[in-house]
Amino acid sequence: MLADQYGRQVKDLRISVTDRCNYRCFYCKPVDAFGQHYRSGIMSYEEIIRLSQIFVVEFGVEKIRLTGGEPLLRREIDLLVTEIAQIPGLQDLAMTTNAHLLPSKAHKLKEAGLDRLTISLDSLRPERFAEITRSDSLDRVLEGIDTAAKAGFAPLKINVVVIRGVNDDEIVAFGKFARETGHIVRFIEFMPLDEDKQWNRERVVSQAEIIEALEELGPLKSVERSYSSETANKYRYADGKGEIGIIASVTASFCGQCSRVRLTADGKLRTCLFSDNEHDVLSLMRQGASDEEVMNFIREAVFRKESGHRINMPDYVYPDRSMSLIGG
Ligand code: 5AD
Ligand code: SF4
Repeated sequence: MLADQYGRQVKDLRISVTDRCNYRCFYCKPVDAFGQHYRSGIMSYEEIIRLSQIFVVEFGVEKIRLTGGEPLLRREIDLLVTEIAQIPGLQDLAMTTNAHLLPSKAHKLKEAGLDRLTISLDSLRPERFAEITRSDSLDRVLEGIDTAAKAGFAPLKINVVVIRGVNDDEIVAFGKFARETGHIVRFIEFMPLDEDKQWNRERVVSQAEIIEALEELGPLKSVERSYSSETANKYRYADGKGEIGIIASVTASFCGQCSRVRLTADGKLRTCLFSDNEHDVLSLMRQGASDEEVMNFIREAVFRKESGHRINMPDYVYPDRSMSLIGG
């Protein structure tokens, strides 16, 4: 078992498999447009599998999520999925993707043993989608979503980062989308994780505002969390159609129940999205460390996991690394 000094157990590991991305979302965007800075130091599949085994078999982690950057850019990602899916004790293997490559990869991922897919999609309007992602490919993403649903990944989760003045006028459209498609639409409050420092408090659309907008389509009923560390507050329209999640990381943070740690693409353990230091487990492994040594290193780092983020504190400092490097 793996726990921090506040008694929170780590059950959920998020692994960034690449820092590269085929989109350039303005609120994320890696330092170097092509991620070249970090590539030589990126974890190999063998290294990712070794760490996954340690986390699952030795530490009792139950869920692994593969993220990026864009995980589908990593060559033969289905081979990695196959290996991780077979680790005894793992209960859930998920992936977050922008869906661009799903039309050709969704079926392979299903066969490889991936349990769930979450897709990032911030606008349903083609021009706006292009502005946000700097890629004119909304059609591709919608096709990716359909292919994934047909491949058996239903219901899908669709992540929408809501930013005032950018896409907050589409909350209702996404509510309709949830009702019509049966996919779970999850609205995420904008967090200060972007390289370009586009974030400010005024651009955060709060959970309360999101709910108010959604209720234009009818009353929402609260749905109980499936487990205590779940990040989303869940709702369903009273008529039973359309499931909604709201990830209120800024206005109602859930750090007290956090069960997550992250591995960056370059093999560093981050105990919080907002950590100001990282633990270089990859270098340790490359120096020939035994499993025991790697485990001790992880235990130490996790023990000192942050109690929570400080976005709402007066002395809050804006962190430097974007989501694409950290791994959502
Ligand atoms: N604020 C909120 N969510 C973000 N994501 C990326 N950057 C931010 C941010 N600054 C989202 C992505 C993806 C998920 C992993 O995190 O859109 O869906
Ligand atoms: Fe890529 Fe996701 Fe970052 Fe957009 S938010 S640039 S899709 S990693």
